[in-house]
Amino acid sequence: MNIDSDYSFQDQDPVYLFTNENAVDTLRVIGGVNGERVLTVGASGDHAFEAYLAGATHVDTFDINSAQNCVVELKTKMIKNLDYANFMDFFFEKNEFFNQKIIKPLYPKFSHELMVFLAKYIMYGNALFKYHGAICAKYIEPNISYIRSPENFEKLRDALPEKINFVHCGLDGVTKNFQEKYDVVILSNIFDYLYLQDMIREPRMIRFYNEILRPIANQNLSRKNGRICMNYMWNANHGNWANFMSHFERAIIQRPEHKFDARVVDSVYRGRKDDVVLVMTQNMGRQK
Ligand SMILES: C[S@@+](CC[C@H](N)C(=O)[O-])C[C@H]1O[C@@H](n2cnc3c(N)ncnc32)[C@H](O)[C@@H]1O
Repeated sequence: MNIDSDYSFQDQDPVYLFTNENAVDTLRVIGGVNGERVLTVGASGDHAFEAYLAGATHVDTFDINSAQNCVVELKTKMIKNLDYANFMDFFFEKNEFFNQKIIKPLYPKFSHELMVFLAKYIMYGNALFKYHGAICAKYIEPNISYIRSPENFEKLRDALPEKINFVHCGLDGVTKNFQEKYDVVILSNIFDYLYLQDMIREPRMIRFYNEILRPIANQNLSRKNGRICMNYMWNANHGNWANFMSHFERAIIQRPEHKFDARVVDSVYRGRKDDVVLVMTQNMGRQK
């Protein structure tokens, strides 16, 4: 497996337990994923969960950090087998956080990797997590539909498969490891951490297109209305990004099959609308 050490994220880094993006509104601004196939970075699993809740028929995941798959497996099995109250206690009740008693009945269902991950928690505690301090239901609840209500949690239980397919690879390994086509590809905000040796936006975006987006679009993206969520941004200037994406499309890339734009997403901070997701859309005309 070729995992580029230039990346800011490494295998076995501390993990995200929940998304810090508005994954729900991201799906809305790309027209939903009902009946569609989705490929997403694994991360906390929340992009995959929201896609299933929004009616996706199949979701595959990848991540440079294989420990994220332990989070995806843990949450998937908890959602499938425990009730909402237990799930909420395990992650959000201070005195119950990661209380093994809650998940013990599920141990026989857990993979070896997940059991090792759980043992690490006993050794390292909260150092195992990114942003542990921000794991507060009040802060993230509005953005994550399956923790917003027991009804959504149960709906997700029905929509989720027993296991979500995960491949341990970096963005540069996606075309090698995935052969199928997807209607939507979600890349979270990985772009923020790529090509940091060049701080200028245009050359970074050109490299991103040539080295990552175009190969993925060629091999893995539906030829008709295939969408890549290229980057999620917080507190972004929508007008500025919309202008840049239009310039990028017309003056730089100049490929009629690839359109670029910036869409406003409801901010993770309620009442504001200043998150932005950059979207690339592929339409190959009549070609199948
Ligand atoms: C960029 S991080 C940020 C968290 C994100 N905003 C969220 O809401 O989950 C998301 C995930 O991307 C993964 N990641 C970062 N760089 C990557 C790369 N080059 N290839 C594949 N995965 C990567 C990280 O391991 C992490 O699990």
